[in-house]
Amino acid sequence: MLYLRILVTGATGQLGSALLNQLRWSDYRVKITSRREPDGVGDFEWVYSDLLSGEGLEEAVKDIDVIIHAATSPVKNSKIVEVSGFKEFLIRIQHIKHFIYPSIVGVDEIPFKYYMHKREAEDLLKDSSIPHTIVRATQFHHFVEKVFLSKPVFNRYIVPGNFKCQSVDVSEFANHLIDLVEKEPQGRTDDFGGPDIMTLKEMAELKIKINNEAKKVFSISLPGEFSKSFSDGKNTNSIRKIGKITFEEYLENKING
Ligand SMILES: NC(=O)c1ccc[n+]([C@@H]2O[C@H](COP(=O)([O-])OP(=O)(O)OC[C@H]3O[C@@H](n4cnc5c(N)ncnc54)[C@H](OP(=O)(O)O)[C@@H]3O)[C@@H](O)[C@H]2O)c1
Repeated sequence: MLYLRILVTGATGQLGSALLNQLRWSDYRVKITSRREPDGVGDFEWVYSDLLSGEGLEEAVKDIDVIIHAATSPVKNSKIVEVSGFKEFLIRIQHIKHFIYPSIVGVDEIPFKYYMHKREAEDLLKDSSIPHTIVRATQFHHFVEKVFLSKPVFNRYIVPGNFKCQSVDVSEFANHLIDLVEKEPQGRTDDFGGPDIMTLKEMAELKIKINNEAKKVFSISLPGEFSKSFSDGKNTNSIRKIGKITFEEYLENKING
């Protein structure tokens, strides 16, 4: 099925950028969309669109066969972008041959608003007539580092040390999604997890070691169900250790450029 026309939404994001890096070398005709114009658009056709207002969506989905939906808004207007705006989006894409939806491991078990919205979006897709594949991934290496390990306080990484993570390299997940393009739509398919399950304390210690940082880890315990679900590893899937690039290798690659 060469020369399919693919649309990548969320082209400026972590996953979107990784998808573009790989699709740049493919034979597919690729259109990309986001609100900001990404760097290095190159040969891609970029279209402005906004899932909040619906502006630009018609143009974005015109003449498209397959969509990889990497647009998301975890914090601001999450309910609209993930659910109500998404519902409107689905109405516009009845002609699509394959809609690929990246989701997150544990969205049905972790009491966190954004995850609940992702779960609702999965259900909207399941109830639609659009041929689709839903694939849940574990947290990206970059995401874990950015959220938990990027802002030391007085030379200490203050982390909920017993949270478990099975972080995965975004480039491997992007590659997996591109591999799905030519497969039959599968509905909900197997999860895509990283190679190791580690605690945040272990990840912080690893970062200190690899980067030779003069820092310490200060581990805290957080109360509540959300915290418990991360400590219990509901965001992991030990039988789906598919990614090969470890958190350690991700950190080393950053040093070596
Ligand atoms: N991050 C993780 O660890 C992780 C793990 C597993 C699965 N996932 C899933 O992977 C997907 C991509 O995540 P990510 O981390 O790459 O996200 P991200 O870096 O936050 O990127 C989000 C993208 O969505 C676009 N966007 C935001 N609001 C928009 C709107 N109103 N209309 C149109 N586009 C909008 C942003 O571009 P503009 O601001 O330029 O519009 C950006 O390109 C999501 O479905 C997420 O749930 C993420």
